[in-house]
Amino acid sequence: MSKHVYIKTFGCQMNERDSEIMVQLLSQSGYIAVGEQTDADLVILNTCSIRAKAEQKVFSMLGMLRKQKKKQPDLRIAVAGCVAQQEGEQIFHRMPHVDIVVGTQQLYQLPEMLGRLERQETTREISCDLDKEFTIPPFQRLLEEAPAPGQAQPAEFRKFVTIMQGCNNYCSYCVVPKTRGREISRPVADILEEVQLLIARGIKEITLLGQNVNSYGCTNAVVEDPTGFADLLKMVAEIPGVQRLRFTTSNPQDLSTELMQCFRELPNLCPQFHLPVQAGSNAVLKKMHRKYTREIYLEKVAELRSYCPDIAICTDVIVGFPGETEKDFAQTMDLLETVRFHGSYSFKYSDRPHTRSADFNDKVAEEVKGERLQRFQRRQDTISLERNQEFLGKTVEVMVESSSPSKARGRTRTNHIVHFTSPTDLLPGDIVLVTVTHAGEHSLQGEPVITESSL
Ligand code: SAH
Ligand code: SF4
Ligand code: F3S
Repeated sequence: MSKHVYIKTFGCQMNERDSEIMVQLLSQSGYIAVGEQTDADLVILNTCSIRAKAEQKVFSMLGMLRKQKKKQPDLRIAVAGCVAQQEGEQIFHRMPHVDIVVGTQQLYQLPEMLGRLERQETTREISCDLDKEFTIPPFQRLLEEAPAPGQAQPAEFRKFVTIMQGCNNYCSYCVVPKTRGREISRPVADILEEVQLLIARGIKEITLLGQNVNSYGCTNAVVEDPTGFADLLKMVAEIPGVQRLRFTTSNPQDLSTELMQCFRELPNLCPQFHLPVQAGSNAVLKKMHRKYTREIYLEKVAELRSYCPDIAICTDVIVGFPGETEKDFAQTMDLLETVRFHGSYSFKYSDRPHTRSADFNDKVAEEVKGERLQRFQRRQDTISLERNQEFLGKTVEVMVESSSPSKARGRTRTNHIVHFTSPTDLLPGDIVLVTVTHAGEHSLQGEPVITESSL
């Protein structure tokens, strides 16, 4: 009889990709993914620790699972991801009903760990030592033999491909170097092989993932040839069938001209860039240990736009970093006015364990952070609306994400969501030309012009 796994993913796209890998690896041990935790024999929480709130969510869900395990004693609970990496053994002390703690480099071992528990060779499993010599296994070969994922899955047309993990930047507020370890790049051949396999399976859009893709290949021995990120991007773009190519995330400090020029040269590279600035004040950037100034950031934005005038630039901002004065914050607001980001993710600064800024003594009061966040988000919403209004009357290429007989939803090459009335039965991944008739803060609406089949 097949067993059921429910996986709850917190955090970033890298965790989403890791969750997919875990589900696929487990499918080889007879597990089928289910959408409800109450139907599961195994619950995996793939966790995030980027802010205190993300970590609290994990522990409150573990608290709820304690009740389920009382009613269902053979339920197995696994904690994976960044909280698992950060807390290790402590998770068993705080939450004794947890069976498995698996770190960010060990997810590939999950089937064996589970096997030992099922055969009752052990009562608990933990593996979460960060290894400097770690290499990301060429798991695509494993997956090639895996049975197709459950039929319930919607047709897939886009995938994330991890090209590196870890980070060597040590921004003073950030847990990622601790939870993901040192930066490790995957060999070029593995990445290209994985993309080719995905395209052969009908995938049309690829997003390359890393905590700082711009330093791909620079810092470890695994990638022996000096392939930089721009070269890798060109190689992936040349693979026939890659209709849309994206990547995330980039630290502005390593953003090269060669990479920026790719937006002019590679037709399938989508004109969209997530370029986290974090703050607009040089004093704050310095304390954050970001190795660029606001002037350098603005120069990079101008250079990007010179190669690709319509590029949609989004950012991340932290408000209320320790020592941030009203004047510093005004610099962040001013930067928002200057760049006019298409969108942004903004957060209140949160103290994280083992980070340098957690020990800074000039913390900003919670209500001040809240007020600054609100001010920033309000202004961003207005700018996003104005940016979206620039699309009014234009015809854009939309890749369909979902559709019902009358309504469909998809994304532009700039990654804007578009709702439109669907002419015929559209499938996820189909390309439709849509004329934009309405612009909101968070999405566009339009009418289809021509479908791929009628071109
Ligand atoms: N590697 C990316 C960021 C990954 S973390 C980069 O360097 O830009 C995602 C975002 O979470 C960050 O950009 C930052 O805005 C936010 N973040 C990270 N640590 C935080 C903290 N301690 N408090 C609040 N926000 C934080
Ligand atoms: Fe964190 Fe900085 Fe690395 Fe981004 S570059 S993951 S913010 S340490
Ligand atoms: Fe969170 Fe870890 Fe990603 S801390 S943002 S899941 S790298």
